[in-house]
Amino acid sequence: MRRIEAAKQASQLQQASTSTNLTGEQLFVRSCNTCHPGGKEGMGPRLDRLDEHFPTDSALAAFIRKGKGIMPPQPKDNINDDELNNLIGFVRNLSADLKDASSPGKVPGK
Ligand code: HEC
Repeated sequence: MRRIEAAKQASQLQQASTSTNLTGEQLFVRSCNTCHPGGKEGMGPRLDRLDEHFPTDSALAAFIRKGKGIMPPQPKDNINDDELNNLIGFVRNLSADLKDASSPGKVPGK
């Protein structure tokens, strides 16, 4: 029994170390920050009203997957489902921080 647990743990560790999943912040910097610098207005709008515009995470996920106008779609081979969850967690926090106008945001703007 104990050996099975150990084997399971080893395989989980291996999976974690070989995972290519990026964090929400890494994804944001790679795919979003150009147009939403630090979550602020750039080519795209300031992201401080997400709770009003996207009350559920699935609505926000659908929007990010699809894109809109010049905002490019993000298919799964670009951002996988786990990564999309990470990204949503990150932008929700960013959005909450931006509501406080004095906050500089989490990603330095360009
Ligand atoms: C090429 C520029 C560009 C990139 C890259 C981009 N966006 Fe956008 N984004 C826009 C524009 C423009 C809009 C406004 C779209 C409209 O309403 O016509 C927008 C709108 C949004 C909105 C809706 C804001 C609201 O309150 O209604 C969210 C959320 C958003 N973007 C998140 C992201 C995320 C997350 C990424 C990275 C995966 C990203 N964007 C990448 C340009 C961009």
